[in-house]
Amino acid sequence: MSSRILVTGGAGFIGSAVVRHLILNTPYEVANLDKLTYAGNLESLATVADSPRYRFYQVDICDAAALDRVFAEFRPDGVMHLAAESHVDRSIDGPSDFIQTNIVGTYTLLEAARRYWNGLAPKVKEAFRFHHISTDEVYGDLEGTDDLFTETTPYAPSSPYSASKASSDHLVRAWQRTYGLPVLVTNCSNNYGPFHFPEKLIPHVILNALAGKPLPVYGDGAQIRDWLYVEDHARALVEVVTRGQVGETYNIGGHNEKRNLEVVETLCDLLEELAPNKPAGVTQYRDLITFVRDRPGHDLRYAIDASKIARELGWVPQETFESGIRKTVQWYLDNRQWWQRVLTGDYRLGRLGES
Ligand SMILES: NC(=O)c1ccc[n+]([C@@H]2O[C@H](COP(=O)([O-])OP(=O)(O)OC[C@H]3O[C@@H](n4cnc5c(N)ncnc54)[C@H](O)[C@@H]3O)[C@@H](O)[C@H]2O)c1
Repeated sequence: MSSRILVTGGAGFIGSAVVRHLILNTPYEVANLDKLTYAGNLESLATVADSPRYRFYQVDICDAAALDRVFAEFRPDGVMHLAAESHVDRSIDGPSDFIQTNIVGTYTLLEAARRYWNGLAPKVKEAFRFHHISTDEVYGDLEGTDDLFTETTPYAPSSPYSASKASSDHLVRAWQRTYGLPVLVTNCSNNYGPFHFPEKLIPHVILNALAGKPLPVYGDGAQIRDWLYVEDHARALVEVVTRGQVGETYNIGGHNEKRNLEVVETLCDLLEELAPNKPAGVTQYRDLITFVRDRPGHDLRYAIDASKIARELGWVPQETFESGIRKTVQWYLDNRQWWQRVLTGDYRLGRLGES
C-alpha cells in the first residue's frame, strides 16, 4: 500500500510499539501525531526518534485546523488512528475527556482525512486507507457463556470508555458507507508488554511488588481477559493497514484467557525468580496481594475469536502468555529509568539524562 503513514497516539503504549515496528522493520515514513497527554511519552520512541523516516507533530485530534496542516504537509497514504483516552477507571471518575477525544476527536480526524482524501489524484485516492484501532470492550460482557467475540457480535459497551470507543467505531463505519472513505477497523483484546503506563494492571503490579507495596486485585480477581503481547498487536495492525480488505473489521486476540488473580500470581512467581532480593519486610511477593472493592459495571469476561485475521491475512501471535509475560517482567527490571521517570513525572519535561 503506502509509503507514508500517519500514526495518531504514537507516543502511547500501543502507538509507540507501532511506530517502532514501522521504523525498524518496514520502509515506511512515519509521522506521529500526538497531543502528549499524561499517557504520551516520547521517551518510548528513543530508539527511532533520530530516524530520517520519523517525524513528530504535537497536535490534538480535536483541532481541525492543525490536522489540515499536518495532512497538507505530510501527505499520508494511510492513517492508523490510535489516539484515545484509554483507562477505564479514569473514564468512570471523569468521562468528559473520553467523550471529547474518543468521539469528537475521531469525528474531527475523519473529517480532516476526508477533506484531504477528496483532493487526492484518483490512483492515490484509491490506495488511501483510514485504519481505526479499537477494543474488544465494545462488545460488552461474556459472563456465563463460553462464546467468543466475533466481528459480527452486537455492540453492548458497559463503561464510559467502551461506550466512547463504540461510538467512534460507528462513526468510522458511517464515513465509509456515506462518503466512501476507505476504512478498516480492528478490535483487540487487552495488551501487555514493554512501555506500558504504570496505572494499568500488569505494570502496576510489577512496580508495586518491587516497592513492597500492596498488589490491588478488584473483587475476587475472577475477571477474565484475553491477553496479547503488544508487539504481536503492532504486527497485526501493520498487516491490516497494508493488506486488509477495505470496509472489513478484524478481531485481534492472543488466545490467552486468564483470570486477573492468575495474572497477578504469575507476576509474583516470576518476580520470585527474576528479582529474588525482595524489599525489606516482604517474605513472598504473593503476600502483597490485596483484594479491593470491585470497579462499578466491571465486565467479567472478554474473549476474542481471532480466526478471521489468521485465515485472511495469515497473522497469528508469536508470543504465548508465558513467553510474553516473562519478557515483560524482565523489561521492567532492565528499564528502571523509563518507569522511574514516569513515576516522578519527569517524562513530561523531556529532560532525559538529567536525573
Ligand atoms: N491498551 C490496550 O490493552 C488496548 C486494547 C485494545 C485497543 N486499544 C486501543 O488502542 C489505542 C491505543 O491504546 P494505548 O493503550 O496505547 O493508549 P495510551 O493511553 O497508552 O495512549 C494514548 C495516546 O493517545 C494520545 N492522545 C490522547 N488524547 C489525544 C488527543 N486528543 N489528540 C492526540 N493525541 C491524544 C496520548 O498522548 C497517548 O500518547 C486506543 O485507541 C485504545 O482504545 C487499547
